[in-house]
Amino acid sequence: MKLTFKIWRQQNSETPGELKTYPVDNLNENMSLLEALDQLNESLVLKGEKVVGFDHDCREGICGQCGFMVNGRAHGSHSHQTTCQIHLRSFKDHEVVTLEPFRAKSFPVVNDLVVDRSALDRIIQKNGFISANTGTASEANSILVSKNIADQAMDLAACIGCGACVASCKNASAALFTSAKINHLNLLPQGKMEAADRTLQMVAQMSEEGFGHCSFTGACEVECPQNISLSSIARMNWDYVKFRLLKD
Ligand code: FES
Repeated sequence: MKLTFKIWRQQNSETPGELKTYPVDNLNENMSLLEALDQLNESLVLKGEKVVGFDHDCREGICGQCGFMVNGRAHGSHSHQTTCQIHLRSFKDHEVVTLEPFRAKSFPVVNDLVVDRSALDRIIQKNGFISANTGTASEANSILVSKNIADQAMDLAACIGCGACVASCKNASAALFTSAKINHLNLLPQGKMEAADRTLQMVAQMSEEGFGHCSFTGACEVECPQNISLSSIARMNWDYVKFRLLKD
């Protein structure tokens, strides 16, 4: 199998970037896209050229490190999968595949396809955790949680913080990410004590980081590899207004 990659090459956030073309031969359709980039990088090393920078860790769709744009879509054209889960059989032989970094003001380019997503970490640092003493593991079932609430919290906790929601949003909003991180804690009895501070502080940090406002176009929900629902944003907005009124 042969593919031609058009890859965004950029030294760092201060320098301009450009698309460069790399034809890659002898690919196997069962290889992952990241393995194809590994193969390309090995050939670049042999030629004494600079390798293509891309982020990854687990390569199993768990860690959220690997996101970039594949043919104009965050994590490629298949729904609910991460970039590391794309296999070459999803492309046609001799296809031209364009790879670009996630583009958002709050995600500066570190190198080539790697962006700095630490803005998402700073949102989590603003109370995106439970500091109340919730007891030992053996006491885990002493606070009853209904199946419906537990399921909702688990679905939202599935967010892997990859940033695809930001990259796919025309406003570069991080509302889907922030709402998932707020709601999976606020829904649980253990998270309710700090719900007001958590909601107000995390939303404030989201704005501070320069992410845009949500206008409910829903692109984030479509591209989210973990299928986080847009209703999470509505819940966050409702709680934000409620807690603001209670605080004022
Ligand atoms: S490398 Fe971990 S989700 Fe892709």
